[in-house]
Amino acid sequence: SIKRFLALALTACMVLPLGACGSGKSGSSLTGGKRIIRISHAQSETHPEHLGLLAFKKYIEERLGDKYEVQIFPNELLGSAQKAIELTQTGAIDFTVAGTANLENFSPVYQIFSMPYLFTSEKAYIQTMNDTDYMEKVYNSTDEAGFRVVTWYNAGTRSFYATKPINSPEDLKGLKIRVQQSPASIAMCNAFGAAASPMSFGEVYTAIQQGVINGAENNELALTNNKHGEVAKYYSYTKHQMIPDMLIGNVKFLKSLSPEEYQIFKEAAALSTQVENSAWDDQVASAKATAQNDMGVHFSDVDLTPFQEAVAPLQKSMLEKNPKIVDLYNHIQEINQKVSKEGSKS
Ligand code: GCU
Repeated sequence: SIKRFLALALTACMVLPLGACGSGKSGSSLTGGKRIIRISHAQSETHPEHLGLLAFKKYIEERLGDKYEVQIFPNELLGSAQKAIELTQTGAIDFTVAGTANLENFSPVYQIFSMPYLFTSEKAYIQTMNDTDYMEKVYNSTDEAGFRVVTWYNAGTRSFYATKPINSPEDLKGLKIRVQQSPASIAMCNAFGAAASPMSFGEVYTAIQQGVINGAENNELALTNNKHGEVAKYYSYTKHQMIPDMLIGNVKFLKSLSPEEYQIFKEAAALSTQVENSAWDDQVASAKATAQNDMGVHFSDVDLTPFQEAVAPLQKSMLEKNPKIVDLYNHIQEINQKVSKEGSKS
């Protein structure tokens, strides 16, 4: 398949002698004198993240186009998130979009985002993520692993969907539910009473189709952009997580940039977030309409209380077991409270 071919070509590029594929710098290529910057992500070409990355590319090429060409590889073409993170660590590619669940193994602070019902509103989530002064401290925490977060993307609110309706935690009992490959996601799913089945995003469709799992949990775009609505017809608004996606960059590459270039990359990253965020709500609304009208997916609102109660002990034990998340947890509680006060005033 094209996926395999690209992955092989990249690997070949990395093992061939210097010069065969361009400069040795970070293992990436120079073509016609231009340094090629490769970005991997897991979504389709209509997804808000792809639109954000197109803005990133345009901004950089308009300002530094004589030096850099940005190439975007969507649809896990270069491999699943975990694979793409490895490629970014070694510098085989320069940037990858990956959810924080995939970053937990590199820096335990990222476990915080897997904590169910962490944010009390979407507004609080977005305010937290846009607090760049605070988040920069978190973003540097993976430098030793060879990559650093440069910006975040909204990946919506996650809810369960399955081949049968889920109205209460009782309904999750005995169901095999796919979760992201992170210890905190596994704990989250088991705390709800389901059997967690960790696997990469690209494997989910076939796993549901073949009955290996009964469902998964994600935002609404997974139903349409990733076609999961073809195989799972019941989406229940349990709204248990808001897990951001992160644009991560190879640290050596970022440090090789001049201060002026670095500034342009940071501006491009911030712009990509704006573009991504502003496309998000509309795309969720249209994904929901498409899933409902064209795919026959049933959406239901559920009483959140029993779901919240089921995972309350997990919130507590996460805080006890992982001191690295406490500061960010407290910071988020302040934002939660501030936002809910503002809401009650208006
Ligand atoms: C969302 C998110 C991805 C993540 C995926 C998953 O689509 O944007 O980054 O990989 O969920 O559940 O694996």
